Amino acid sequence: MLWLTGVLGSFEASPLADWVGGPIYPLVSALHILAIGFLVAPVILADLRVLRRGQVDATSIDLSRVALIGFCAAVATGVLLFSVQATRYAVNPAVLIKFSLLAIAGANAALFYLISRIRRATAALSIGIWCAVLIAGRWIAFAG
Ligand code: HEM
Repeated sequence: MLWLTGVLGSFEASPLADWVGGPIYPLVSALHILAIGFLVAPVILADLRVLRRGQVDATSIDLSRVALIGFCAAVATGVLLFSVQATRYAVNPAVLIKFSLLAIAGANAALFYLISRIRRATAALSIGIWCAVLIAGRWIAFAG
């Protein structure tokens, strides 16, 4: 695991991390929250629609596309925020929980698209998982 500490240390010492950690940090943090809004709100709306209808339709596909844009923006801004204190975040339990939940959300999304007969169950689970990711994210500041 020493190599990982080395990689995270270099990331933290990079000019990018230096730049993000400067006066621009509040803006990057605000953009992260904006991205989360674009991700979580449409995900919940799309999941509720699938729960009601039992199937994917044009509206839920449109909502999923907006959520995908939000997800990409959350990852991009999240990585920038992470760079500032990479070595500290790597041992923060809330960060580890958040990353595990993100992996579970990905696996659940794959099951949602691959197995149509469990669509309602995976849609319901998706609402819970994304709310948990959001809570774990807010927890980071208090756990490290
Ligand atoms: C790979 C993707 C992501 C990474 C690397 C990442 C990383 C981070 C980092 C480093 C912080 C700052 C923590 C702090 O010191 O307060 C943060 C904050 C936060 N993240 Fe993420 N994040 C990612 C995706 C997400 C997603 C998808 C969500 C929600 C669905 C989310 C929710 C939050 C929340 C609620 C905060 C707290 C914002 C605040 O209170 O100012 N993050 N994230």
